[in-house]
Amino acid sequence: MINLLIMGKPGAGKGTQATKLLEYYNLDHVSTGNIYREEIKKNSVIGKEAMKYLAQGNLVPDKMTNEIVKELLSKENYPNGFMLDGYPRTEAQAEALDIMLEELNIKLTAVINVSVDDEVLLHRMAGRRVCSNCGQTYHVDYHPPVVTGICDFCGSKLMQRDDDLEESVMNRLSIYNEKTKPLLEYYHRKGLLVVIDGEQDSNKVFKDIIESIGE
Ligand code: AP5
Ligand code: MG
Repeated sequence: MINLLIMGKPGAGKGTQATKLLEYYNLDHVSTGNIYREEIKKNSVIGKEAMKYLAQGNLVPDKMTNEIVKELLSKENYPNGFMLDGYPRTEAQAEALDIMLEELNIKLTAVINVSVDDEVLLHRMAGRRVCSNCGQTYHVDYHPPVVTGICDFCGSKLMQRDDDLEESVMNRLSIYNEKTKPLLEYYHRKGLLVVIDGEQDSNKVFKDIIESIGE
């Protein structure tokens, strides 16, 4: 059983690494960002509320996010473990997660921080394209699709995320520094933090992560 948290600045490559790790360890993905984007697409009650925050790059209030994760961790079954991506991002979320894990008797295996410099991130987010149908992620320079603008997997059109426009990106970075970065120290103190150089080719980043987990 492997239960991972993947952390990192916006655009660090959390989603890219999550896709590889899920397949390698046969884990289930719990990505709060993906959940909110799906709910917005469905125009659900949660989606309507989340929409107020996502496009500008602001965080959705802790209460709603904690409730969603709690529901998923307590109701779903993760036979080989899970990977939390994009949660927790505030101290209140980290504390809520600790309580959930304790109640459910679940232990975290490791907290992976994918470390990348701000300049690299700006370029990554400016070039990111996502499939409008299946959510698969590409980059115009680093991970281009076979046919420009079309998803390799499902043939749908690729789009830019609303929050990848420059203003939202700068806001996301400053929120990260203020609210999320302090959590690295929190997990370091618990002896769970593994820091990985995220500026390398994504296959090398992946290799470093699995070597550090060691299973
Ligand atoms: P979320 O979806 O979690 O966004 P994020 O943290 O800003 O991170 P990204 O998804 O932008 O980046 P990533 O690290 O996954 O990078 P990727 O692999 O795509 O959250 C979105 C929003 O939802 C938040 O702003 C907030 O509003 C809300 N939300 C979510 N969780 C919340 C929470 N817990 N509390 C409150 N609100 C919450 O890679 C980026 C690009 O780089 C891609 O193009 C990729 O192809 C490329 N790339 C990746 N790795 C490499 C590499 N090694 N070399 C070259 N290119 C690479
Ligand atoms: Mg992501």
